[in-house]
Amino acid sequence: MDQIAYVNGSFVPMSEAKVSILDRGFLFADGIYEVAAVLDGKLIDNASHLARLERSVGEISLALPETTGRIQEIQKELIALNNLVNGMVYLEVTRGADTGRDFAFPKGVKPTLVMFTSVKDIINAASAKTGIGVITVPDIRWTRRDIKSVALLAQVLAKQAAAEAGAGEAWMIEDGKVTEGGSSSAFILTQDDVIVTRQNSSAILPGCTRKAVVALAEERQLRVEERPFTVAEALAAKEAFITSATVFVQAVVSIDGKTVANGKPGPMTDRLREIYVEFAKASAV
Ligand code: PDD
Repeated sequence: MDQIAYVNGSFVPMSEAKVSILDRGFLFADGIYEVAAVLDGKLIDNASHLARLERSVGEISLALPETTGRIQEIQKELIALNNLVNGMVYLEVTRGADTGRDFAFPKGVKPTLVMFTSVKDIINAASAKTGIGVITVPDIRWTRRDIKSVALLAQVLAKQAAAEAGAGEAWMIEDGKVTEGGSSSAFILTQDDVIVTRQNSSAILPGCTRKAVVALAEERQLRVEERPFTVAEALAAKEAFITSATVFVQAVVSIDGKTVANGKPGPMTDRLREIYVEFAKASAV
């Protein structure tokens, strides 16, 4: 059966879900997106995603066409219409479709809001048990990576290179340090048991899962240091892992073909994953 999508106020079959070729998301990547996980038909950490959505649209002076309260209702309606149990809801808001292709903001144009769902069993994903390999690529993105913009070509190329190398993610490198993954935040556990992840700044996206994992670790008196790290440090680490709404916490067992520790997910990664899943279920709406 055709999936149902949401387009500007209507729920429509995916095959009929369309926006104009003049939409500024299509022409200029003039738009913002969010991805929230769904477990047992409920949205995970959605308040955090909606807060980041509000911040991202604010940074590009784009007014949301609906309140975040209404957006959450639409997300939930879509989950129900698609009978989605486990997976994610994608949402995108763009500056809308003008009558031509002017770079400057158009006047009197309503933003475009679209959403769709996809199925994924995040909890039982095979890679959660085995971990993934990552490759490293230069970080060639713009300097406002804190904005969750739909301009993702650098990440598309990075993740294609990873796929061609048989890796599950690409870690992007700038000034000799890891910024983040193509679509995830990057972490290591040092030999003296410090969880290290780069501090938030315009160099990375402030990951919602990263934020929750850091807070959950600190609540449990685990040592967390927010600073950049090198690939050499990651290769010398006890463990490495990534976080995102679509994988939660996932072990990184090799980098550019060299194994991290014994090449298996480590106990801290497994523990943080369990703690995160518990938090996710408790925060579900
Ligand atoms: N990506 N860094 C980047 C560059 C990302 O694209 C993402 C998320 C993250 C992790 O953020 P969060 O924990 O809030 O999901 C970090 C989403 C999942 C995507 O593009 O599909």
